[in-house]
Order: sequence, then structure tokens, then C-alpha cells
Amino acid sequence: MKDYIIELNNLTFSYSDGTKALNNLNLKIERGKKISFLGINGAGKSTLFLHLNGILKPTKGEIVFNNMPLKYSQKELKKIRQKIGIVFQDPDIQLFSANVYQEVSFGAMNLNLEKAEVIRRVDKALQDTNVFEYKHKPTHFLSYGQKKRVSIADILVMEPEVIILDEPTSSLDPKHSAMIEELLNDINKTGTTLLLSTHDIDFAYSWSDYIFILRNGELVGEGTPAEVFENSEWIEAGAIEKPLVFEVYKALEAKGLVHSHAIPRNKDQLLKLIDK
Ligand SMILES: Nc1ncnc2c1ncn2[C@@H]1O[C@H](COP(=O)(O)OP(=O)(O)OP(=O)(O)O)[C@@H](O)[C@H]1O
Ligand SMILES: [Mg+2]
Repeated sequence: MKDYIIELNNLTFSYSDGTKALNNLNLKIERGKKISFLGINGAGKSTLFLHLNGILKPTKGEIVFNNMPLKYSQKELKKIRQKIGIVFQDPDIQLFSANVYQEVSFGAMNLNLEKAEVIRRVDKALQDTNVFEYKHKPTHFLSYGQKKRVSIADILVMEPEVIILDEPTSSLDPKHSAMIEELLNDINKTGTTLLLSTHDIDFAYSWSDYIFILRNGELVGEGTPAEVFENSEWIEAGAIEKPLVFEVYKALEAKGLVHSHAIPRNKDQLLKLIDK
């Protein structure tokens, strides 16, 4: 039987101006998986993420975490936010401390850990996101990509069960995108469930264990990367693109030039098939 860490039941949310951002969402997140949410601007990805640790409260429906419905008292919210960490889409909203070191240590200090453990976690998070050299710099002087990496370090120090990243690589250069991808894989290997949103279809295709497609606050499709991109109706309904590697493979396969039981997920796997 599958082990679900988060379940959404009939999740519906309208903003105060009347915008219905989520409409009767039902979905289940399997523990320990790497999960992507795809969908065009305004599909509801950020709104959904803000619900998952109680920043937004559903207008209707519920969120179930570890088989318990989310509760919204201050005490319960504090607990849940230590277990489900969110890296916001916009780091300027997340970062509030004077300098990088204070920013990243804040979350760990609130966990009542031994001082040595706080220092260990903060140093590791700063190094893992490659911002150690800026640790004494005021956060508002950092470049956007550097802020984004600090906002990831912010959450890493908490070592939560679930990490949610809203467009984690959107403002990063290719070197740091690759670094964050590797870091996410390492974190996942220790059992952390990872949820992210991205407009980088090629990344989602190669990285994810499972993908959800949203449109107008509704779920239009879900499955493994191959299942999702095989379904042209879902791709059209979500108004997203197919990954390049997937399309090239399909075109070659249609001409009888390649054949594989497992569809290649990245450039190297595709090139190997062509090379055969
Ligand atoms: N504070 C707000 N007040 C009113 N409407 C909002 C607010 N925030 C978001 N919305 C609306 O809710 C809908 C979903 O927005 P959301 O930010 O969740 O989309 P998204 O999928 O994250 O998009 P993007 O890819 O642009 O980040 C949109 O129609 C948006 O205009
Ligand atoms: Mg968003």
C-alpha cells in the first residue's frame, strides 16, 4: 500500500477579491517522492503551496498531513511549519533578517537545539547553497539569485519532513541550478519529500518521480513523467509544452530509428539510444 504524507480533500480557496484560485482539488502526495507541479501563470501553484503549511486557510475542504487534518491554532501552526518548510517564489518576501548568517540561523534557533547543532546546521546549509562567503553580508545587498539560495538555506536548516520550493531555479544561473538540483536529490535520498513548482518542463521531466498539472485551480492530470507527457489531452488542457528529449525520442521512434522499453528522461539517455 502506498504511504501518503499529504492529502488534499476538496480543497477550494478564494482570495478576498473573489478570485477562485483553487477549485475542489483532490490529490495525494506520496512520502519520500520528488514531485513537481506544472501549470501556466495563475494556475494556482503558489496558492496551493501556501495552504500546505497553513499560511492560507481553505475556504472549503481540508489538508491532511500524516493522517491528521491541519489545525490552525498558533501552537499547531508552529509545529506544522517545522515539519513542512516552504521556499517562497519571491525571496524578498521570505528574507527578513539583517544579514545572511542571522537569517539562516533564525529557523534553527527556534527549534531549541543545542548551540553546536545550530552552528553545524547553519554552516552546512550555507555551504550546500554556496552562500557561505556572503554570510556577513546584509541580505538586501545580495543579487536576486543569491537571495534565492539563502531562502533555500533558510528552510534546509530546519530539516523538515517536507520541503516545498516555489520555482526554486527560476532566477538561478545554470551552474547554481545544477547545484540546487543535485542538492535536492541528496536531500531526497535522506527521505525528505520534495514538492516544487517550475516552468522548466525539461527539468520537471528528468527530475520528478511524479507530476501534477494544474489549470485554473483544478487538477488536469497526474502521473509519472512518462504517463503525463504521453497524455496530449492533459498537456493541452494545462497549456504546457512537452519536454524536448521526450519529443525528439517520439519523433525518432515514429521513424523506427530508436526503440526503448523506458523512454529516455534526459539528453544523455537519449544520446545513448541514438548511438546504439
Ligand atoms: N493576493 C491575491 N489576491 C487576489 N488574487 C490573487 C492573489 N494571489 C494570487 N491571486 C490569483 O490567484 C490565481 C492563482 O495564482 P497563483 O499565484 O497561485 O498562480 P501560480 O500558478 O503560482 O502562477 P505563477 O506561475 O505566475 O507563479 C491567479 O488568478 C491570481 O491572479
Ligand atoms: Mg506562483
